[in-house]
Amino acid sequence: MNNNRTNGLAIVAALSVALLSGCEAPSLDSLLSSNSTQPAGNTATTGESTQANTAEPTQGSLRAKQASLAETITDVNGVPTVTNPTDLAVVVNKKRALPADYIPPDLVEPNVPFPFDEKVEKRLLRQEAARALEELFAAARQDGIELYAVSGYRSYKTQKSLYETYVQTQGAEHAAKYSAVPGKSEHQTGLAMDVSGADVKTRLEESFGDMPEGKWLAEHCAEYGFIIRYLKGKEDTTGYAYEPWHIRYVGKEMAQEITAQGITLEDYLSATATAQK
Ligand code: DAL
Ligand code: ZN
Repeated sequence: MNNNRTNGLAIVAALSVALLSGCEAPSLDSLLSSNSTQPAGNTATTGESTQANTAEPTQGSLRAKQASLAETITDVNGVPTVTNPTDLAVVVNKKRALPADYIPPDLVEPNVPFPFDEKVEKRLLRQEAARALEELFAAARQDGIELYAVSGYRSYKTQKSLYETYVQTQGAEHAAKYSAVPGKSEHQTGLAMDVSGADVKTRLEESFGDMPEGKWLAEHCAEYGFIIRYLKGKEDTTGYAYEPWHIRYVGKEMAQEITAQGITLEDYLSATATAQK
């Protein structure tokens, strides 16, 4: 077991204990530097996630095998909530919340450059996505493109604070275009990463899409299983403004199908529903 995986398991186990006991979560700093070896069985977090801990990532194809959007939603205390939070094809958006206490089962730190030194949770991704991100960044480097991982996993609590800061500093209208309310951010799935280039290390702006790094990312991310999640011209479908920096892991096959068609994840899985009727 490598250190990243070990650390990821330890992180989830410790966070889970903190959540279940109602304690303040331990600092990521201590967790990320931990070398303890928790068994995978200790990483169970919320309801369904335990079941999917053992689930294999989706293989083969594909579109017809995917559950439709209507099949993966249920009402939890009046909130439409996804039933498949650990699925690589999970769709989380303004109409589809994650279980509020959901923590991904296998968070690890990818071995890629970050534009900050702190050992914080935003370094983390789910294991399969982390490995894919490493391959993506290595391929970029081979092409002379330096990419940085700016923001990956965010807990409900972190997203709450981020969203509230956004509303306070930018106003509610701007926040609604760029920031998800807590429980409805893809970052809480551990499958999304915000990416920047070396010269805009911490800036996530629309102009990134016109820079060599943004163009390279859009052209190649599907080869490694990622999609540009919030496309230009698809704001009505995704609910968010164009974000050329936000990539979402769905696996290679689905990413390539979605990207080739220039559609959103919502479009892809809605079409699944249509095809199954
Ligand atoms: N920026 C994306 C929409 C989020 O906050 O999850
Ligand atoms: Zn993002």
